[in-house]
Amino acid sequence: MGQAPVVYGQSTRPPRGDYSRANADYTCPQDYAAYTAADHDTYRRLYERQRALLPGLASQAFIDALPSLGASDRIPRFEEVNERLYKATGWELVGVPGLIPEVPFFTLLANRKFPVTDWIRKPEEFEYIVEPDIFHDLFGHVPLLFNPVFADYVQRYGQGGLKAQGLGSCEMLSRLYWYTIEFGLIREAGQLRAYGAGILSSSGELAYSVQSPEPQRIPLQLERTMRTRYKIDTYQQTYFVIDSFEQLFEMTAADFAPIYERLRGLPEFAADEREAVAA
Ligand code: PHE
Ligand code: FE
Repeated sequence: MGQAPVVYGQSTRPPRGDYSRANADYTCPQDYAAYTAADHDTYRRLYERQRALLPGLASQAFIDALPSLGASDRIPRFEEVNERLYKATGWELVGVPGLIPEVPFFTLLANRKFPVTDWIRKPEEFEYIVEPDIFHDLFGHVPLLFNPVFADYVQRYGQGGLKAQGLGSCEMLSRLYWYTIEFGLIREAGQLRAYGAGILSSSGELAYSVQSPEPQRIPLQLERTMRTRYKIDTYQQTYFVIDSFEQLFEMTAADFAPIYERLRGLPEFAADEREAVAA
């Protein structure tokens, strides 16, 4: 079914990255010299295909910020992106060898550092990648870090992650990440658009998420979302829709501790469980 959504921390196979390169905080320098001409070409082809699909499907904030990534005919250097990103919102990209554990991940986000996997998929993985690579992390996630409200949301998610970790509630919190930062939809001027990185970096799920009659789309509600399981190996069957990044930021301002407590006793929703009210 085309390009599979990327996976966060649930893969059973060993990660591809070389973690011996990483510092204690799991960051590592972007090994720019290691990229081959084929690697740059893979990035160029992925970028070009995906850019052409965005109009009418991607959030305007994302489309407007995409050129801030810089080079599209080769893999950008994190330092080049950082010059612009730091000025825009105070965020910085840091290299990582791949997926990293929860606490270092949340800690980086809480400090406005966004971990970007530095390696790129092989040409034979053009359509399908089981782990996030640099194309997903950079193209999917980084443009919206140029948006001040969204950028603040991601930092606050990191802070909330550290808190959830202490409360044993990371699973509930991670569903919020999944259904917003990875697979979120937004209504802009009455039109549905995608803002989640897992959608925006997927050639197939972009149109599917916005246009297919198959999945359900319901308004984002904190508790419903945190109770909803998700599928990592198919397109989503449920998408949660927001009206603005301000709304997202305000909805998540509350202290989650009592919410986790209350939700612990309640049943979960299956990833494809239907809601009476559609968005
Ligand atoms: N407000 C949440 C808490 O108190 C943290 C959070 C912020 C979670 C933003 C998700 C997104 O735990
Ligand atoms: Fe991601």
